[in-house]
Amino acid sequence: MSANHRPSGQPTTPSDALRESAFLKACRREPVPHTPVWFMRQAGRSLPEYRKVREGIPMLESCMRPDLVTEITLQPVRRHHVDAAVYFSDIVVPLKAIGVDLDIKPGVGPVVERPIRTRDDLAQLRDLTPDDVAYVTEAIGMLTGELGATPLIGFAGAPFTLASYLVEGGPSRNHEHTKALMYGDPQLWADLLDRLAEITSAFLKVQIEAGASAVQLFDSWVGALAPADYRRSVMPASRKVFEAVAGYGVPRIHFGVGTGELLGLMGEAGADVVGVDWRVPMDEAARRVGPGRALQGNLDPAVLFATPEAVAAKTDEVLAAAAGLEGHIFNLGHGVLPDTNPDALTRLVDHVHTRTSR
Ligand code: CP3
Repeated sequence: MSANHRPSGQPTTPSDALRESAFLKACRREPVPHTPVWFMRQAGRSLPEYRKVREGIPMLESCMRPDLVTEITLQPVRRHHVDAAVYFSDIVVPLKAIGVDLDIKPGVGPVVERPIRTRDDLAQLRDLTPDDVAYVTEAIGMLTGELGATPLIGFAGAPFTLASYLVEGGPSRNHEHTKALMYGDPQLWADLLDRLAEITSAFLKVQIEAGASAVQLFDSWVGALAPADYRRSVMPASRKVFEAVAGYGVPRIHFGVGTGELLGLMGEAGADVVGVDWRVPMDEAARRVGPGRALQGNLDPAVLFATPEAVAAKTDEVLAAAAGLEGHIFNLGHGVLPDTNPDALTRLVDHVHTRTSR
């Protein structure tokens, strides 16, 4: 019997089941059996089983070990029954893979040995080839076998956010060196972002070709910019990344923090799904993004430290604001905070599923 003539509409093969998953349906703005849920940073320090397997292994090293990546990526799926897995890695992994001298310092974040501030410094950024990240291809192959009908989300850092680490040399509150370069030497800035767009595109292609069902472009710190600067100095590079992977037909998610004023432009850059932090209600976000794109969000991650009743009430507020959306993927407005009680996340997944079951 052909796929078009299924008696009950039930998926018949594993790849059908994957395609018909609530997460991918919501990304495509199709009707869903329940609102799908996953969490940014769901694989990480909030889980005791994560801390146990990571013991004594530096962050970047753990990202290069397919067995460990597979285990850590699966942990939150097993524990919380989320609707999608997110590949365990970090936004600086492709930069490390092409030889940029950087490390992830615990409690600090990515630190770059020789910041990029001059044209000569651009030589640090060569092209990324699939061989540079063979461990990613291997890990995704293992993962898709284990995950079955649960989609795997691949990801990368967006050119602006990667540039902010490379130019500052580490995490930054005000992004002053980054902005100094952007405003002071627009040509060098454009060339830097274009380089990063090439690297990011190549890295996302590796993940999709290995079996990722969706990709998220994290522009975590782009909320530091005004819309006109975003449009002029960032959007061309982000658009280049989205266009590079458009042909695969996998949903492309675009997320940043403090991006209320940029939501429309971030959709225009080429996303199928726009991620929303907790500062803008989902119905207002939908107005800003406009039709034709699904939305992802947006419970404040700090809410999970409140009582179960308060978490449920705040979750219901998010669901009510999102009720009229064409496609909604429930998520936090930013990543899971390290001290979050994992049981609060498990309860949250169950609550969203129960409340939205159709
Ligand atoms: O979401 C997931 O579960 C997948 C894992 C993931 C990590 N980093 C693992 C990680 C993802 C999606 C990222 C993306 C990432 N990395 C972003 C974009 C997302 C966001 O939060 O805005 C950014 C800005 C980074 C850079 C980075 N790496 C930061 C700010 C930190 C935290 C530093 C700290 O220790 O407080 C990291 C380290 C990092 N990346 C950890 C994890 C699990 C912690 C390292 C550890 O467990 O020792």
